[in-house]
Order: sequence, then C-alpha cells, then structure tokens
Amino acid sequence: MDKYVIKGGCRLTGEVNISGAKNAAVAILPAVILSDSPCRIENIPDISDVKTLTYILKEMGARVEYLDLHTVEIDPRPIMTDIVSAEIARRIRASYYFIGALLGRCRNAVVPLPGGCNFGVRPIDQHLKGFVALGCDYSLDNGMISVSAKNDLHGANIYLDVVTVGATMNIMLAAVKARGLTVIENAAREPHIVDLANFLNTMGADIRGAGTDTIKIHGVQRLRGVTYSIIPDQIEAGTYMVAAAATGGDVVVKNVTPKHLESISAKLVEMGVTIEEGDDTVRVLCERPLRKCNVKTMPHPGFPTDMQPQITTLLSVAKGTSMVNESVWENNRFKYVDELRRMGAQITVDGKVAIVEGADRLKGAPVRALDLRAGAAMVIAGLVAEGTTQVEDVQYIERGYENIVEKLVELGADIYRMEEPERTLDKIG
Ligand code: EPZ
Repeated sequence: MDKYVIKGGCRLTGEVNISGAKNAAVAILPAVILSDSPCRIENIPDISDVKTLTYILKEMGARVEYLDLHTVEIDPRPIMTDIVSAEIARRIRASYYFIGALLGRCRNAVVPLPGGCNFGVRPIDQHLKGFVALGCDYSLDNGMISVSAKNDLHGANIYLDVVTVGATMNIMLAAVKARGLTVIENAAREPHIVDLANFLNTMGADIRGAGTDTIKIHGVQRLRGVTYSIIPDQIEAGTYMVAAAATGGDVVVKNVTPKHLESISAKLVEMGVTIEEGDDTVRVLCERPLRKCNVKTMPHPGFPTDMQPQITTLLSVAKGTSMVNESVWENNRFKYVDELRRMGAQITVDGKVAIVEGADRLKGAPVRALDLRAGAAMVIAGLVAEGTTQVEDVQYIERGYENIVEKLVELGADIYRMEEPERTLDKIG
C-alpha cells in the first residue's frame, strides 16, 4: 500500500485549483441512466470513486468515453440490465444511487449493499422508506438489495426521520419519473443535492425546492441527454483552507463557490484567520497564533461533518481548549484521534464530543489514513508537525482528493508519494 512522506514546517503559499465535487459526481453519474440519450459531464474530479462508478456503468453496458481527464460522455441506451453486479460496487457507498436511478429507469434494481468509509453504522432505512412510499417492495439477500415496483412508481409525501444526504438524493432519483407529485420533507440541503436537482432539471425533470428542507418533484415522462458541469468540491476547498491556516500560510483557493464555504470560513475567522472572498476564490491568510473555538457538525448550512477531522487537527495546534461535537455520525468518526495522539495531539473523546487541548507542536510519526477525511487530516497534521510523518493507506485519501500531492507541492509543501511493495500480509489478504 503506498504512503505519503511529509516533512513538516513548510508554510503553504500560492494558488490551488479545486476540482469538481465528489459527492455531486457520485450521484450525477448514476443519474445518467435515467436519460434516453447520451450525456456529457464536465468538471468531473479525477478520483477513484468516479472511476469506480464509470466502471460500473460500463459493466452495465453503457458506452463510456472520457473526452479528457475531467469530461466524460455516457450513452445509457445500450444498458439492458437492472442489476449492478460489479463486485467493485461494494467498495463505495455511492453505488446505492443506482437503486434510485434504476427504479426511475425501469422500476427494478438489484444492487450490492453499500460499502464506503468505515466510521460506524451507515444504515439505509430512510432510502427504503422512500422507495416503499413510491410503491416499491424490497428484499435483502446475500449482500444484495432488490427493490422493485409491480406498477409504475407513484408520487408520495415522504418525511425523512433524519436529515440524510443519501436518502434525499436516492428518493429524488426514483421519484423524478414517478406518476404525480412527490414531496420530500426534512430533506438534506447540501450543495451537491442542489447540483443533482439542477442536472435532472436540465434533462427535463420538474424538481423544486432543492437546497431547502422541502423538495417537490412532479414526475415527467422522459429525460433527455444534456451537457452538464459539476459544482466545485466544498470539502476539498475546505481542506486546503484548513491546511493553509494550519501552516500559517497565504493561499488563494480557486474555482470555488464562496457561499458553499461560509460555515468553514466563519470558523476559521473565529480562530483568528483572515478570509478574503472573491467571485470564485477564497484567500486564506494566517498571520497570528490560532485561537481555540468550539465546533458542532450539522447538516448544511451548518459546519460539514466531512470537515470535522480536518478542523479538529487544526484545533490541536491552536491556543486553548476546544470542543468538537460530531452530531451527524456516531462517535466512530473520531477513530482518527488515536492516530493524531501518536503525533502528540492532546485530545480526549467522550461519545460524540472531543475535547482538544491545543499543543505547542505536533511531532512527525507513522500514521494511517483510516478513511477519506481522516486521511486528509493526517496530511494536514504532517504539514504542521516537526519532523517527518508517513501516512499509510493513502488509497482512502485518493478516493476523494484529486492530485493532492501535486497540489500541495505546488503550494510549497514537502510531500511525496512512496510506492510500497505489497506486504505479504496484504497478499494473504
Ligand atoms: C453523504 O453520506 C456523504 N457521502 C458523506 O461524505 C457525508 O459525511 C454525509 O453525506 C453527510 O453529509 C456521499 O455523498 C457519497 P447521510 P451519506 O445519509 O449519504 C443517518 C465523504 O467524506 N442515516 O447524510 O451516507 C446516518 O447514519 C463522505 O465524502 C440513517 O439513519 O450520509 C448518519 O447518522 C463520508 N438512515 C446521518 O443519517 C439512512 O437511511 C447522515 O447520513 C441514511 C442515513
């Protein structure tokens, strides 16, 4: 398994270009199968989760052609199956969007139960609640979930018991061609949900209210192929903003939507960082010691849970004692704290709350990327630590960060990727 080797102490300066949003791309790619002609998706991030989904689409029979690293043309017409059999589908959670998309396309879906980041239980009961409301039945068998509707899917009023991004998007995919009106109440409001709705509406759907907690979907007969460009990645941008602050740097983060970053910018300003917003840029300037602050992760527009490991790492070198409350996921989203402690971080976790005592400095050490965002946090810790840090299992990081080593080197970081021969144990697997 490859690793990153990072020599801490470099101040990040310069400009970084943000890629397309992973969590928008992983819903928009499956959504293409709802179309009755080819789609061209632009500004798609060059990351392994996207490669996995285009592989699955090919496996299903779609014609998939990369016009360049960030533009893919997909013709779903040759697809003759309602089964996502690819073993690879188990590896990423987002493969469950094929359920909603297949239900919208042909009223039937057989998909592997989702995999993805390992931080606690990740149920799909709200997805299933929505599908049943739309007229479907489902069964689980041998790690596969089968969902089908005897007759056409019909509109329904669905009140989500929890604010869930996945269920909001999956129900939208299933409802977009259902007969009549579907109303999703207590819907998630993330920017990637708005992006999916915009994509579907460009194809001819009738979705209103995306980005609010009530989404109304009038079913339509057909959706046509379009060209669509994916929004910038809010979390990738936030990660570089935190890295700039952590190293006392001066970085302009480009190709962003500043509005999507408001909760992150507000926290950094609270910690003493200077933030300057442009039309599609955010400048992060850190010239003074970081101040402590308290963070509570919330559904959008609150502070994103996908920025929790990164901000906790920043707080571990701020002055004073901070509190981080993970209100979206179980406390398993603090598993990375053990890795940070190996670098001298003084953090205690009690259930959903982490108490962070700001340390004078972190010390480089060998650490592991336990999941995508925890891995990004380890990289940030390595950038600020004294000495050298080795981050292992970087394949998790590369699921969601395009060219993270090259982008950091461009900003002045001392980081390189070390190819590691497969350990025998890995072979025994
Ligand atoms: C999406 O996961 C993101 N993944 C996650 O980002 C992100 O952390 C999460 O939304 C919250 O923003 C993708 O978009 C591919 P949820 P998702 O359904 O949809 C509970 C990353 O780093 N819940 O919004 O799986 C659930 O247990 C990844 O890019 C139910 O109870 O998250 C959690 O506590 C990691 N029943 C809460 O809702 C359900 O049916 C939020 O989950 C579904 C969810």
